[in-house]
Amino acid sequence: MLQKKKFVVLLICAAHLGGSILCSRLTPDLKPKHTNVAFLKTHKTASSTMQNILFRFAEFNNLTMALPKPNCGHQFCYPHFFSTEFVHPQTQQPNMIANHMRFNESALQNLMSNTTIYITILREPASMFESLFTYYSNISEAFRRVPNGSLEAFLADPLRYYRPGEDNAMYARNTLTFDLGGDKDRPASDAAYAQAFVAKVERVFSLVMISEYFDESLVLLRHLLSWDLEDILYVKLNMRAESSKKSLSPGLPEKIRDWNSIDARLYDYFNASLWVKLSELGLDFVANEVNLLRHAQERLLKNCSGGQLPASEIKNKELHPWQPSENVSIVGYDLPSNISQEAKERCLRYIMPEVPYTTKLLHSHLMSFMVLPFLLYTFQ
Ligand SMILES: *[C@@H]1O[C@H](CO)[C@@H](O)[C@H](O)[C@H]1NC(C)=O
Ligand SMILES: *[C@@H]1O[C@H](CO)[C@@H](O)[C@H](O)[C@H]1NC(C)=O
Ligand SMILES: *[C@@H]1O[C@H](CO)[C@@H](O)[C@H](O)[C@H]1NC(C)=O
Ligand SMILES: *[C@@H]1O[C@H](CO)[C@@H](O)[C@H](O)[C@H]1NC(C)=O
Ligand SMILES: *[C@@H]1O[C@H](CO)[C@@H](O)[C@H](O)[C@H]1NC(C)=O
Ligand SMILES: *[C@@H]1O[C@H](CO)[C@@H](O)[C@H](O)[C@H]1NC(C)=O
Ligand SMILES: *[C@@H]1O[C@H](CO)[C@@H](O)[C@H](O)[C@H]1NC(C)=O
Ligand SMILES: *[C@@H]1O[C@H](CO)[C@@H](O)[C@H](O)[C@H]1NC(C)=O
Ligand SMILES: *[C@@H]1O[C@H](CO)[C@@H](O)[C@H](O)[C@H]1NC(C)=O
Repeated sequence: MLQKKKFVVLLICAAHLGGSILCSRLTPDLKPKHTNVAFLKTHKTASSTMQNILFRFAEFNNLTMALPKPNCGHQFCYPHFFSTEFVHPQTQQPNMIANHMRFNESALQNLMSNTTIYITILREPASMFESLFTYYSNISEAFRRVPNGSLEAFLADPLRYYRPGEDNAMYARNTLTFDLGGDKDRPASDAAYAQAFVAKVERVFSLVMISEYFDESLVLLRHLLSWDLEDILYVKLNMRAESSKKSLSPGLPEKIRDWNSIDARLYDYFNASLWVKLSELGLDFVANEVNLLRHAQERLLKNCSGGQLPASEIKNKELHPWQPSENVSIVGYDLPSNISQEAKERCLRYIMPEVPYTTKLLHSHLMSFMVLPFLLYTFQ
């Protein structure tokens, strides 16, 4: 009954979306939107797109986003375990956190409200490893050692190239496990470790999103947080150009899963549990929401961008995605030149890459801290 009611309101909302992006609440009896969220941002999993959704939500709703202090870069001093010391002093007592970190549950609990909902995102291990291998080809020593940049050569004998303790080794084995605070070098034979680790992740995270089913995951997120469809609207960020993607030859996916066995176990478990949750919500209901989301997205893209461009062709410096290597082409967006200032401000939020957006949010937090004492002083 409840689902039927939601669906009717959803249709009204769809008509509404035709004219404007603003969509009224989907159900009249909805709980207030949940505003305290910790997102464990994993690597190469569509997490930049997810982070952008949270950045925008925080900005539009005047929430505080915990941001890294300057000497941590735009990440919380990754790959160190997260510590509250890495948080910019003027973003303490935050509602949300969404920049890269290595997860430490108790340190985060010291920072975040006890009503915080924890979420993260995982990606299928084979396509994820191909992405890591390309993206970090010139950064991770393990990959740099491989002759001809050949993924086949690496997987034929990973231990020949990989050194567990050296810098950037975390991009070369069980990266998801590492980001989640686990031990990336436990051997595949230690099934008990992997099993206990999966259980721990399940205890902490209310939602583990899956990149392959990003839109479906967002629908679950929207319901978990009582958000509107408008709140989960996005433009894909930090993607490689098609020319920088490689297809995997037969046999490689299995080798990748063996080499990243803890990640593979995490993925299989949480992909299965995602589909259980989707079934509970109703697969038809989910499919409808996904459709609405995609339609709204097409309109947004038409309004907001001249289309995807390789980074080298983007004129606006603020919209340049970071390039890990000359060999990897990351696509981004430029704003159309003929849109209004208001539309420009709005559109910018959807297409701004992680680094400039982090800087922008920090500036606005710092500004509000400077303005407040000034006002108090002026009016006393
Ligand atoms: C697209 O732009 C028009 C005109 O500026 C505006 O009315 C509409 O709300 C925008 N739609 C979206 C999806 O941003
Ligand atoms: C956020 O703050 C601005 C300026 O103080 C205010 O105009 C706006 O209404 C606030 N928005 C929300 C959603 O509270
Ligand atoms: C995690 O954080 C807690 C609380 O700040 C700290 O005591 C602990 O040492 C940290 N763990 C690691 C592995 O850094
Ligand atoms: C959360 O913290 C508040 C005070 O900050 C406390 O009253 C409340 O009992 C806590 N809730 C839980 C579930 O720990
Ligand atoms: C970049 O591409 C060149 C030419 O294809 C290749 O020789 C080189 O090994 C690549 N470098 C990296 C770091 O992948
Ligand atoms: C690397 O490429 C060169 C030239 O294409 C080839 O002769 C050599 O066998 C390759 N090495 C490996 C380890 O694949
Ligand atoms: C995820 O789980 C679903 C449902 O069990 C399954 O159909 C699908 O193949 C899985 N996806 C991947 C990429 O493993
Ligand atoms: C790899 O990194 C070095 C500096 O560490 C740089 O000089 C070189 O241009 C990079 N190669 C590519 C292909 O990006
Ligand atoms: C901007 O120009 C594009 C292409 O020339 C056109 O399709 C679009 O309608 C124009 N938008 C506005 C708001 O004038």
